[in-house]
Amino acid sequence: MEGKGISQAVIRRLPRYYRYLGELLEDGVERISSNDLSKRMKVTASQIRQDLNNFGGFGQQGYGYNVKYLHSEIGKILGLDREHNMIIIGAGNLGQALANYTAFERSGFMLKGLFDVNPTLAGVTVRGIEIRMMDELKSFIRNNDIEIAILTIPKTKAVAVANMLVENGIRAIWNFAHTDLNLPEHIVVENVHLSESLMRLSYNVLRYEEKHQKKK
Ligand code: NAI
Repeated sequence: MEGKGISQAVIRRLPRYYRYLGELLEDGVERISSNDLSKRMKVTASQIRQDLNNFGGFGQQGYGYNVKYLHSEIGKILGLDREHNMIIIGAGNLGQALANYTAFERSGFMLKGLFDVNPTLAGVTVRGIEIRMMDELKSFIRNNDIEIAILTIPKTKAVAVANMLVENGIRAIWNFAHTDLNLPEHIVVENVHLSESLMRLSYNVLRYEEKHQKKK
């Protein structure tokens, strides 16, 4: 059941399965066939079967998938059946916006602290969580069993801060700073670039317009 050898493409699709199955659960649906799931998710049924076969299937031929079971198994694969302690480095606009978002906690991502270098932010609280200065970082990571750091600082500072986080035992970085971090292999980095999503949107708007104009 462990995710060894599973392609990153499949891993990238799992959160979407998890979300759809969660919605089905809320709607009281107990079983779903790969065909019905396929219609909802606009993914081919064979893709769904192939993806889920990576983990031993979960489905019984002809009976469809048990929604609750599949949801919980995918949750386990994604590590959502346990808590992950997180800190945010950079308590500016984006850092505070993320800190204010409560839904992460429902999936087990627990925000324990916020850090910044700006002394005017020292002691300010966001959703009850205090903003601390960077000199407290080392002991905070150790004492609070922090696994994930969210980097929302300027890109010029990101590399140095990331190295410091690694030295202090951080396991993973959710990197919003627009720069690549070259960290040891055992450190997991997930880069987020909202602007890339916006560029894809822009591309598709243009393509749609082109197609539409040709038809006129
Ligand atoms: P901001 O200026 O409001 O906040 C940045 C915060 O980082 C400030 O409070 C500053 O004092 C703090 N900071 C600076 N150096 C630091 C250090 N060495 N250690 C700890 N804290 C430090 O900026 P905003 O709008 O929140 O953006 C933050 C970063 O996120 C920027 O690099 C921005 O380009 C990036 N960003 C990325 C997005 C994405 O999709 N990846 C979307 C939006 C912003």
